[in-house]
Amino acid sequence: MGKVIAVAQQKGGAGKTMLAAQLAVSLAEGGSVALVDIDPQGSLTIWGKLRAAAPKAVHSIKVETIAGWRLASEVEKLKKSHDYVLIDTPPVIDSDARRAIRGADLVLVPLNPSPPDLWAAEGTLKLAAEEKRKTALVFNRAPAASRLRKKLEAEISARGLTLLSVALANRAGYANAFADGLGITEASPSSVAAEELREVTRALKNLFGPE
Ligand SMILES: Nc1ncnc2c1ncn2[C@@H]1O[C@H](COP(=O)(O)OP(=O)(O)OP(=O)(O)O)[C@@H](O)[C@H]1O
Ligand SMILES: [Mg+2]
Repeated sequence: MGKVIAVAQQKGGAGKTMLAAQLAVSLAEGGSVALVDIDPQGSLTIWGKLRAAAPKAVHSIKVETIAGWRLASEVEKLKKSHDYVLIDTPPVIDSDARRAIRGADLVLVPLNPSPPDLWAAEGTLKLAAEEKRKTALVFNRAPAASRLRKKLEAEISARGLTLLSVALANRAGYANAFADGLGITEASPSSVAAEELREVTRALKNLFGPE
């Protein structure tokens, strides 16, 4: 049975859609992956359409647009035929976000390493806790080292929350690849960004324990 990862964070623009797409492509280097877009903004769905026409898209990734009561049953179906199912959620806490979190093996919460981003994630973290879901935070657009990042790492650890040991930096390569319907590991496979993303992917897989 595949693992379901809901990428959720009530704060807008934290990098949910970008991360879902990048991770999907990187995870597809070692298994089958489906993406589910439950955000009415539909950015991931557009990425999927661009991807269908992108010559550099080496991995085949199913992208489904689903909302409402069908979500749970569709995700159940997808996890029978894929190693990973990633759900991109909208920047709101509503019944769809709750459904996505309820059906997830892991809730992945991207955030910029600055305190207001953690405050903004409280609703998502509370929802994941209510649904007793395993949760991990991941820093996005992170400077290599900063006072704020250290402060936030300490706060996250003091609260007993899990933070991925590897973060994504702010890199134009991610946004450029996304705009072409690609992941960075396809667009620039030997770039620093691609290596960073593969490390994030390994850290993510480790959360599920040894294969
Ligand atoms: N690590 C990064 N480096 C460079 N650009 C990034 C990075 N992460 C995200 N972006 C860019 O930031 C913008 C917001 O990212 P994204 O759309 O993934 O956020 P989101 O959380 O899905 O937003 P929303 O809440 O509106 O759904 C996009 O233009 C994306 O390309
Ligand atoms: Mg989004």
